[in-house]
Amino acid sequence: MEQIKRSSFSGKIGFVLAAAGSAVGLGNIWRFPYLAAKYGGGMFLLVYLALAVTFGFVLMMAEIAIGRKTGKSAIGAYASLDKRFGFVGWIAALVPVLILPYYSVIGGWVMKYTFGFATGNGASMATDTYFGSYISNGVGEPILWFGIFLLLTGVVVFFGVEKGIEKISKIMMPILIAFMLFIVIYTLCTMDGALDGVLYYISPDFSNFSMMTVVAALGQLFYSMSLAMGIMITFGSYTKKEISIEKSVHQIEIFDTGIAFLSGLMIVPAVFAFSGGDQGALGQGPGLMFTTLPKIFDTMPGGDVIGTLFFVMVFVAAITSSISLMETVVSIVMDKAKLSRKASCLIVFGGAFLIGIPSALGYSVWGEVEILGLQFLDFFDFITNNLIMPIIALITCILIGYFLKPKVIMEEANIDRKPFVSRLFTVMIRYIAPVCLVVILISSILNAFGVITI
Ligand code: TRP
Repeated sequence: MEQIKRSSFSGKIGFVLAAAGSAVGLGNIWRFPYLAAKYGGGMFLLVYLALAVTFGFVLMMAEIAIGRKTGKSAIGAYASLDKRFGFVGWIAALVPVLILPYYSVIGGWVMKYTFGFATGNGASMATDTYFGSYISNGVGEPILWFGIFLLLTGVVVFFGVEKGIEKISKIMMPILIAFMLFIVIYTLCTMDGALDGVLYYISPDFSNFSMMTVVAALGQLFYSMSLAMGIMITFGSYTKKEISIEKSVHQIEIFDTGIAFLSGLMIVPAVFAFSGGDQGALGQGPGLMFTTLPKIFDTMPGGDVIGTLFFVMVFVAAITSSISLMETVVSIVMDKAKLSRKASCLIVFGGAFLIGIPSALGYSVWGEVEILGLQFLDFFDFITNNLIMPIIALITCILIGYFLKPKVIMEEANIDRKPFVSRLFTVMIRYIAPVCLVVILISSILNAFGVITI
């Protein structure tokens, strides 16, 4: 398979846009705001930014360079750098397999809300209890919307019409950003208490710091930037030699973080305005966006129309990411099981549907079932972002830092002659990142098993 000439991105912008398109998704719009609200507002933001410019920067550069150097996707790439590390590629391949199903469950929530606004039910969705009663309501609806979302993703991948969706997304993304800006301005100008929320969101209060802030921020960094799962390695393998990896990484990071920041600014101040900064409201978790946005739209004239348009755009951002997730899994199945594209699609669709069922029903009929004190969706989210991805990142750092030597990757990324960046890279990859990763991993595992509370 690898002999076939790999297609490459047409130009510099093509690469940055494709990588940013994969990075920007529900991670930015749905996940970032609820984590920021829950884990300390400005403190979370500060930790996240600090991790993004050190950790995220180094790891993304390393992954893209690995891909370009080896010309292979994760499974082949790790093995070709060092035979003994081939297993890392396989663990990396497992991540999208576990993410796609629950990602689709949330995609289903987005569709449910789109449909709700489009049918004029905005007002009923603006109540505190709506989201909770929807996800806990029996079997039918949660499975239906999750199934439709996954099916749409599957249809696009099956017929190979990703290019069309990409075009739509390129038009929709700027409009989504404009909408978010509009909502931010609207909230700040019209709602009492929103400014307190802005303060909470941007000014770090050290009394809000806990180890959990770091654990959550790191997991979010991996998730949002599609790191530690082989995706950026695959992107790197399509990248031409002339492209500056360093500059591209800057652009992708600024773009991804910018959208996450904006999304938080859209949601966190509104939570404050509606609840007066009540900790319960801030700590709601995965439902935060779904309870807060309808309340904002409810106060707007024409809220149903605005809500519909807004959720349509969130849906587009979500489905481009789920397509890319499914595409990754399908290409692994094709390569490794030597199956046709269509057969692989069917298998992946069936598998993702089965794996997704517990997440879809985890808040309703299977609401009693908990693993490590977590409901299914949170459990899948936890083992990927807070367990498997840090492990992959740790082993990648050890591979580059001690077996391959940082120089090899720095040459590929053309940073070997830049004293500051190459120093940062070496120190991060050999010492700081591994130590931090081990500390974070151990504390999040002990926390999950209830040994300590962080
Ligand atoms: N980064 C995406 C987001 O923010 C989610 C994601 C994780 C993803 N891994 C991926 C998207 C792999 C595409 C491919 O929503």
